[in-house]
Amino acid sequence: MVQIRLPENSKIEKGNYFKDKTGSKNLRKVNVYRWDPSTGKNPRIDTYEVDMDNCPSKVLDILNKIKNEIDPSIAYRRSCAHGVCGSCAMNMDGKNGLACTKPHSEIKGDINIYPLPHLKVLKDLIGDLSTLYKQYESVEPWLKTSKKNDEKENLQSKKDRAKLDGLYECIMCACCSTSCPSYWWNGEKYLGPAVLLQAYRWIIDSRDEDRKERLKKVADELKLYRCHTIMNCTNACPKGLNPAKAIASIKKMLATS
Ligand code: SF4
Ligand code: SF4
Ligand code: FES
Repeated sequence: MVQIRLPENSKIEKGNYFKDKTGSKNLRKVNVYRWDPSTGKNPRIDTYEVDMDNCPSKVLDILNKIKNEIDPSIAYRRSCAHGVCGSCAMNMDGKNGLACTKPHSEIKGDINIYPLPHLKVLKDLIGDLSTLYKQYESVEPWLKTSKKNDEKENLQSKKDRAKLDGLYECIMCACCSTSCPSYWWNGEKYLGPAVLLQAYRWIIDSRDEDRKERLKKVADELKLYRCHTIMNCTNACPKGLNPAKAIASIKKMLATS
């Protein structure tokens, strides 16, 4: 089972079973992690029989169908439904990913859906990302330049612009950080792959004038060097990015500067 951070003194119980009422012959069983802190009860796994004849292709479609047609109490995040906002990140079939881009046909047998691993859970599939966002803010993810003329474009050479490829596409979904064992155990101090990739995105930007300071800020035993190149992060990224490489690039810049 995926490594969920359970509420204190709790255990996962067998939950409610929602039997199909449509009479469909094409059903799939979907097991979903449920926890509502306002009830004071243990977390549970609810099981839904879902009519797949009338369900579009992605895991998010299944959740929407459950919420709209079976059980409106289920809580999860989603917005764009096109792999752009990062809000629907969760753990499906034991792997982190975006529910809106994950085809349910890729999952064999029952479909198991959990929140992202090791985050404090706020409710059902919604993890608490406030620490990650604070860490993101700490790397000051904006352009720092002394140029005052806001009306003129701040140009880059094609070569410099290409250095941002594989970095600017990050949607801060946290699939990588929540799959990283170092981040699980040191999440308060270690910045983790998502934030370090973002840090590198600004360190390497030719228009930014704060490179030295940015490097100095992340050059820390806990913030950076807790990465042991296990590569879970890169395997987990639903956008095909390589945070482990970005981290290695920061380390290399520090070693050679
Ligand atoms: S390479 Fe580094 S950041 Fe990525 S999973 Fe491993 S320890 Fe975590
Ligand atoms: S690097 Fe990939 S997995 Fe990590 S936050 Fe960015 S898009 Fe998500
Ligand atoms: S809903 Fe936006 S990435 Fe899935």
